[in-house]
Amino acid sequence: MSFYEPESVVCNGSLFRLYITKEQLDKRVAELADQINRDYDGKKPIFIGILNGAFIFLSDLMRHVRIPCEVDFFKLSSYGDEKVSSGTVTERKDLDADVQGRHIVLVEDIVDTGLSMKYMVERVREKNPASVNVMTLLYKPDAARHHVDVEYVGFEIPTLFVLGYGMDFAQEGRNLAQIYVIDEKEGG
Ligand code: IMP
Ligand code: MG
Repeated sequence: MSFYEPESVVCNGSLFRLYITKEQLDKRVAELADQINRDYDGKKPIFIGILNGAFIFLSDLMRHVRIPCEVDFFKLSSYGDEKVSSGTVTERKDLDADVQGRHIVLVEDIVDTGLSMKYMVERVREKNPASVNVMTLLYKPDAARHHVDVEYVGFEIPTLFVLGYGMDFAQEGRNLAQIYVIDEKEGG
C-alpha cells in the first residue's frame, strides 16, 4: 500500500514542507504503544481520542497495543479556521463511555497552549476515573500557557504551525500521511 507523501504541499494558499516522515512517525508511535503495553498491563485502559485531530494518531497507536483496552472520543474545537488558538474551547461531542473507576488515557494530536487539554483533564476528572494520563503526539513547550501534565510525548517541536497526520489548516490537510511545517519564507 502506498500513501500520498509529497515533499511539500500547498494548503489553503500556504506552503508547507515535510517535517516528520512516515518512518519517524511509525517508529515513535510503536514506542509509545510499547510504553502503554507496559504501564497499563492488567488495567484495561480507555483511550479517549480528542476529535478531530487525534483520529489518525490514535488509530495507528491502537494497532500496536497488545493489552485489552477500549476506545471513545470527545470532540472539542478551539482553533476555528485560524492558525492561532481562539482562546476558548467549545464542546461538540461528549463521552459515551462510563469512565468512573477506569484508567483513562487522553490522546491528542498536539498540545499547543494547553487550553484544550487542561479543559479535557478537568472534564474527565469530574467523572471520577481511577486515573487520567495525557498522551500527545506533538508538544510545543514554548507555547504552553495553561499548565497540564503530559505523561507521554511523541515529539517536542518549536512553536510552528504544522499540518497532516490528522492535523488541519482550516479543515484541510488531515489526509496527509506525514507531518508538514509551514514555510515561513513564504509568509505562511
Ligand atoms: P491548545 O488548546 O492551544 O493546546 O490547542 C490544541 C489544539 O489546537 C490541538 O488539538 C490541535 O487540534 C490544534 N492545533 C494546535 N497547534 C496546531 C498546529 O500547529 N497545527 C494544526 N492544529 C493545531
Ligand atoms: Mg486537536
